[in-house]
Amino acid sequence: MKSNGFELGMIGLGVMGRNLLLNMADHGYSVAGYDRDPAKVLRLKQEAESRSVLGVDNLKEFVAKLREPRVIMLLVPAGAPVDAVVRDLIPLVKAGDLIIDGGNSYFKDTERRLMQLKDRGIGFLGVGISGGERGARLGPSIMPGGPPEGYERVRPVFEAVAANVSGKPCVTYLGPGSAGHYVKMVHNGIEYGIMQLISETYHLMKQTLGLSNDMLHGIFKQWNTTELGGFLIEITSDIFAQKDDRTGRYLVDVILDEAKQKGTGLWTSQEAMTLGVPLPTVDLAVVMRQLSDLKRYRLGASHLYKSTAKTFQGDTEKLVEQVRNALYASMLITYSQGMSLLRVASDTYHYSLRLQDVARIWQGGCIIRAALLEKIQSAYEAEPDLRNLLLDSRIVKDIVDRQQDLREVVRVAVELAIPVPGLSVSLAYMDGYRSPWLPANLIQAQRDFFGAHSYERVDAAGVFHTEWRED
Ligand code: 6PG
Repeated sequence: MKSNGFELGMIGLGVMGRNLLLNMADHGYSVAGYDRDPAKVLRLKQEAESRSVLGVDNLKEFVAKLREPRVIMLLVPAGAPVDAVVRDLIPLVKAGDLIIDGGNSYFKDTERRLMQLKDRGIGFLGVGISGGERGARLGPSIMPGGPPEGYERVRPVFEAVAANVSGKPCVTYLGPGSAGHYVKMVHNGIEYGIMQLISETYHLMKQTLGLSNDMLHGIFKQWNTTELGGFLIEITSDIFAQKDDRTGRYLVDVILDEAKQKGTGLWTSQEAMTLGVPLPTVDLAVVMRQLSDLKRYRLGASHLYKSTAKTFQGDTEKLVEQVRNALYASMLITYSQGMSLLRVASDTYHYSLRLQDVARIWQGGCIIRAALLEKIQSAYEAEPDLRNLLLDSRIVKDIVDRQQDLREVVRVAVELAIPVPGLSVSLAYMDGYRSPWLPANLIQAQRDFFGAHSYERVDAAGVFHTEWRED
């Protein structure tokens, strides 16, 4: 057994892998990085300067340089590349070694890889890492899942490199199996939802209030100092101030309006549908990215359906304040949807998630970090099994206080022909969730009418069928 050598090895020296490795080196860990692309290895060496970091482009040599039992982290694109690296590693590692997948892997792939490696006595952790390039370098939010003994081996390094909020690292063991990657997937689903909501407020304020980028920069900057504050609000403010090097124009105005996606938002929606958990704000966020991608057809249709868009005639300042409240309420509703999916998934997949921990480790380092997560953490601390955040008294108050503004903003947008599906579906979700009665009785009647699917009654137990027509 090799007792000297590097404490941790990183496979994949792209933006995330390289920066996380340098972060580890900053905290005194001796680390080695491997990438088959020599240019990436060179870049690591240049940025490492005098730190204790080895860079190699030969996998066998890389594995041989690691202290045993080995800890090897992968930061490679999700999907086939992870399987390819695992396949290449298997003949080079031994029972007792630990492989960590730090990418945005699909949780079912993580379960499969866990079993594949378990049979060989090799440990495997599926770890979500959020924060992008800067987060990886200076402190990400880390969402680990898998065998607890595997986590214990890397806990010190994870705690050292993670973001820190109120003296606590934004990392904790989340649960067995694919718990870490599942939580990261839902993190990304919420990320999609919030980005969509913010972009709708931009659409409304830009097109109906005619606000300039400078003004929007100021508004989001001010919003960031309020209860709405968070990373996505902060960067939105910065985006409106950025000028384009090529044209000198505001950069946001020369960026094409077609949103791309790698798939984690879609997975979240698909998974929520499968588990029967309503997640409409995330669904709509995915849908609107898809719709944005149909630019060619949108351009064609814009001539067929002449825009009825008008400018807002009322009090601009008042509407901006209502938009802020509408955004806050719909953001809270989006987190509530995401957390309710985690609650059901935890029962379904036996993750034993502690949602107060999830809300805590999302408060620093990650993309969806926001002031309101403190309130969400307190809600779960008070009632760990809360089925839905919309049932927590503090959240109820926050939403009740702002629901009129949310209604007003949706009304104005609909009247002025601005699509705000994220805001309106968040409102509809809340209105649906708080309805003691929904028209689903009619749907039951229709199903029974055309398909004899039966229905239940409000006044008697059992299932019933009616012959709706004589013929
Ligand atoms: C993060 C981000 C990160 C990545 C997204 C982008 O938490 O650091 O979520 O994982 O930027 O996967 O996702 P899309 O390409 O699907 O928008």
